[in-house]
Amino acid sequence: MLFMSQFSGASYYIGKIDKNVIRFCNVHLATLTEKRIGLFVCAGEPDKAIEQLEVGFPRELVHVACAKGYFGYRIDLTRLSLLDRILLTGVGKLRNEEDMKRGAIRDFAKNFLQEG
Ligand SMILES: Cc1cc2nc3c(=O)[nH]c(=O)nc-3n(C[C@H](O)[C@H](O)[C@H](O)COP(=O)(O)O)c2cc1C
Repeated sequence: MLFMSQFSGASYYIGKIDKNVIRFCNVHLATLTEKRIGLFVCAGEPDKAIEQLEVGFPRELVHVACAKGYFGYRIDLTRLSLLDRILLTGVGKLRNEEDMKRGAIRDFAKNFLQEG
């Protein structure tokens, strides 16, 4: 989870956006909807990422977001819990992987600033 100024981002885990991020968004919904915000996700499935963002974040935030982005993903085995390792073993993906979309991160920042 990352909340940095007006950017809010989350990772996808087992078909859902990190529940801590969604809880935070819901608790602070009134404050967040009054700000200019950008939303992004990190997820292993690029084709579904923006759709996942639009379905996963509270509708009110998706509606007011000035920029939306998919930033790629990273799997670092040293940071995973035992349960995560077991889950990844089950789908045959227990390995370090990284495909961060630096161009998309730049575009997101550019869109966010232009929309201002
Ligand atoms: C246990 C586990 C489950 C995951 N499930 C999904 C998933 O359902 N859909 C998806 O798009 N990405 C999935 N991912 C990929 C993560 O979203 C991706 O690795 C992300 O970069 C993790 O970010 P973080 O390390 O900041 O939490 C999964 C990763 C792990 C480790």
